[in-house]
Amino acid sequence: MIEMVHVSKAYEGSTQALLDISLKVEKGKFVYLTGPSGAGKTTLLKLLYAAERPTEGEIRVNGFDVARLKSREIPYLRRSLGVVFQGSKLLFQRTVFENVAFALEVLGAKRREVIKKTSQALWLVGLERKGSCFPSQISAGEQQRVAIARAIVNEPLLILADEPTGNIDFGAAEEIVRLFDEINFRGATVVLATHNEGLPAILPKERIVLNRGQMVESSLSKPLAFA
Ligand SMILES: Nc1ncnc2c1ncn2[C@@H]1O[C@H](COP(=O)(O)OP(=O)(O)OP(=O)(O)O)[C@@H](O)[C@H]1O
Ligand SMILES: [Mg+2]
Repeated sequence: MIEMVHVSKAYEGSTQALLDISLKVEKGKFVYLTGPSGAGKTTLLKLLYAAERPTEGEIRVNGFDVARLKSREIPYLRRSLGVVFQGSKLLFQRTVFENVAFALEVLGAKRREVIKKTSQALWLVGLERKGSCFPSQISAGEQQRVAIARAIVNEPLLILADEPTGNIDFGAAEEIVRLFDEINFRGATVVLATHNEGLPAILPKERIVLNRGQMVESSLSKPLAFA
């Protein structure tokens, strides 16, 4: 499902964000990507959904050769996964329902399908009664759940979640982690990036630890090329 082989990323004029990362995440797994602020977690996720290009190395995601993907092919990769962005990135002029529905509308889904799938996603995250609220009218934890509903509404097989428990208290964070467990149970592979060391304690799963761009710990098997 995800394979990175000798991947490095240097931003222009900056230090090395990622250095020689090799990892493999198999279908159906739930993996934490942890490490302190600036360790490279967001960068790693961005490489997976082609928001950034690697400086070196090979990346495969859902059968796509991501490092060599042409710009016009990127939408196909994006359709095969769901991203929960750091800071949730909701549209504040639109309702909760519209925020989630938008993710389907841009894919050209029919009105009836949009309504059905959006309602289902909001139900799954426990926000079926908040559809007509604006993001400013709901709590930070609920905003995060809207961002999760938006990521899962197209029923992707892979969910990349970047700090989905930022800015919320421990109880709300626990609910969100349990929600990802449910999403994983329903069949999606989950990669959850967080600097919150408390999350793996709530729900122990496999773990990749980054520090200053290097993978300092991993419970995953190595990619085949290194077996
Ligand atoms: N667009 C960019 N241009 C230049 N440098 C960047 C850019 N984005 C990130 N960096 C640098 O790359 C390194 C890794 O950043 P990244 O955002 O991946 O860390 P992170 O682990 O997600 O941190 P946090 O926990 O604070 O979200 C940092 O040193 C950061 O300053
Ligand atoms: Mg980050």
